Amino acid sequence: MTKPKVFVSRIIPDKGLERLQALAEAEIWPGDEPPPYETLIDKVKGVDGLVCLLTDRIDGSLMDAAGNQLKVISQMAVGFDNIDVAAATERGIPVGHTPGVLTDTTADFAFSLLMTAARRITEGVDYVRAGKWKTWGPTLLMGQDIYDATLGIVGMGRIGQGMARRASGFGMRVLYHDDLIDPSVAAELGAQACSLDEVIEQADFLSLHVPLTDETTHMISTDQFRRMKPTAILINTSRGPVVDPKALYQALSEGEIAYAALDVTEPEPIPVDDPLLTLDNCIVVPHIASSSRATRNMMATMTADNLEAGLAGKPLPNCVNPEVYD
Ligand code: DGY
Repeated sequence: MTKPKVFVSRIIPDKGLERLQALAEAEIWPGDEPPPYETLIDKVKGVDGLVCLLTDRIDGSLMDAAGNQLKVISQMAVGFDNIDVAAATERGIPVGHTPGVLTDTTADFAFSLLMTAARRITEGVDYVRAGKWKTWGPTLLMGQDIYDATLGIVGMGRIGQGMARRASGFGMRVLYHDDLIDPSVAAELGAQACSLDEVIEQADFLSLHVPLTDETTHMISTDQFRRMKPTAILINTSRGPVVDPKALYQALSEGEIAYAALDVTEPEPIPVDDPLLTLDNCIVVPHIASSSRATRNMMATMTADNLEAGLAGKPLPNCVNPEVYD
């Protein structure tokens, strides 16, 4: 029996890759960087399944280029703002993603960024490497305490809740803003519901955990920075465009807030000459919050599970648009 044809837009971790290769005739894009959109259009022609990443633009034109036999789009990420889900639903194509398995890994990382920024760890490393460490200094690299501080969480989904759990272990007060979450869930975590403005104004650390939508694009901009404490630290592990980068540069360089620690940027990757990279009070890492070996392998396995179900015409175990089955 001939195997279904699948295009895989990057080399994914072994556990998932081996499964994909066993169940399909898989063409795997070998580059370290994503295939350009035009190449992707070309590669999907005639495939039964597509495995993609958050770096691929997956729109209606691409789905049409693939053809009617396209049965499933399986993305190795929990976020799916790069995919036109409505276009997939219109065409009867289920879209898979990988929720749950990366929650704790991402919350661990967001909390690490919080601690790194608060205690100025990257500055300390740079200081030692530059040969500047001459003696113990009474005022050297003084940072901010984490215990007893207020953490503001914007978006109290799985990862936001994971952040609240970690914060309570550090004796922090936790405020959150999220209109969708059942308040009893957050109450069990000792977190207090507030308006967005209240969270922004009271937070010593503001951590963002919302999906990227029209409503959340640039939700943290000039007005929000002006409301924040001058000592506040911003942590973003959600999506880059949730924060207005020009407003962030201004807020950091004019002392409206103290520090930013970013796993995600707008655009991605951040250009090496971006003004944010010139600031001592801003650290940027390359969208690696979910990147532990175990988690990336679990994400790859879930991606293969979704693909396998979709190719077999079965409901995807983790489907973004279950209405496609109505
Ligand atoms: C996701 O899954 O959406 C993250 O941004 C990458 O793991």
